Amino acid sequence: MAQVTRGVRAILNLPLVYEACQSLVGATRARRVIVQEYLRTSAGQALLDVGCGPADILGLLPEIEYIGVDSDASYLARAAQRFRGRGRFYLGDVYTLEAIADRQFDAILAVGLLHHLNDAEVEALFGFAATKLARDGRMVTIDPCFTDRQGPVERALIRSDRGKNVRSPDAYRALAAKSFPNTVLDLRRDLLHIPYTHCILTCHAGETGPPGLSTGLKIESRGVFRERNPLRSAGSGLPLEARPDGVSYETTRLRSRQPQAAVSP
Ligand SMILES: C[S@@+](CC[C@H](N)C(=O)[O-])C[C@H]1O[C@@H](n2cnc3c(N)ncnc32)[C@H](O)[C@@H]1O
Repeated sequence: MAQVTRGVRAILNLPLVYEACQSLVGATRARRVIVQEYLRTSAGQALLDVGCGPADILGLLPEIEYIGVDSDASYLARAAQRFRGRGRFYLGDVYTLEAIADRQFDAILAVGLLHHLNDAEVEALFGFAATKLARDGRMVTIDPCFTDRQGPVERALIRSDRGKNVRSPDAYRALAAKSFPNTVLDLRRDLLHIPYTHCILTCHAGETGPPGLSTGLKIESRGVFRERNPLRSAGSGLPLEARPDGVSYETTRLRSRQPQAAVSP
């Protein structure tokens, strides 16, 4: 597993410390954005949350059928204690998902997981998701990423993450594209109180994506990514593209550079 769980970062393995740190940097608001702008689940739908941690996101979701999977038993115990009766929680990893969750989902979520996984694990996760999503379902992932626009403070913050596989946006998208040809990538620098760039992938089941997509967005899925930063957008000179939901995004082109256990509360 490609994550650091020793040294000073070991303290983050304590669920309460993890939650407090998340709250300090503004992660609750970030999760709300994920739920409202990307996940868009509605009541009654089925959601699989891989790498769910203490399941902080569950408190922001409508009444859905929620399954959370994580490799850390203490996070899962905390999740089960907080959300008694609202979800089912399983100890597992990307290779045990088939045994844990052999059914269809309307959405699959991985918040802060991919950068803890090596490439083979990420491919296994996307491969599993591609076979388990409902016809109009989606998989949403969000992770820190490295870009060439970051300053030393932001780079140091991202390097200090417990996940040791922080990638470029292009690298994340390439891994998803093997299972999801229709993947939209968003870069966001506005989600936390600290300088941090997040790469958000929305992977659509099916070949053509959700109904109502404009041609422009289809092109995005083949290699153009949206970058959104309110501070940079003004006067940046890059074309603005309107989405069907009426929101405008700054867009730019990707450079071709160089065994399982259920946890009971
Ligand atoms: C940054 S935390 C995110 C937790 C949660 N999604 C959240 O938003 O707070 C990453 C999580 O991925 C879990 N994780 C790391 N490697 C994993 C693996 N191979 N399979 C399942 N979970 C894993 C960790 O235990 C941790 O809970």
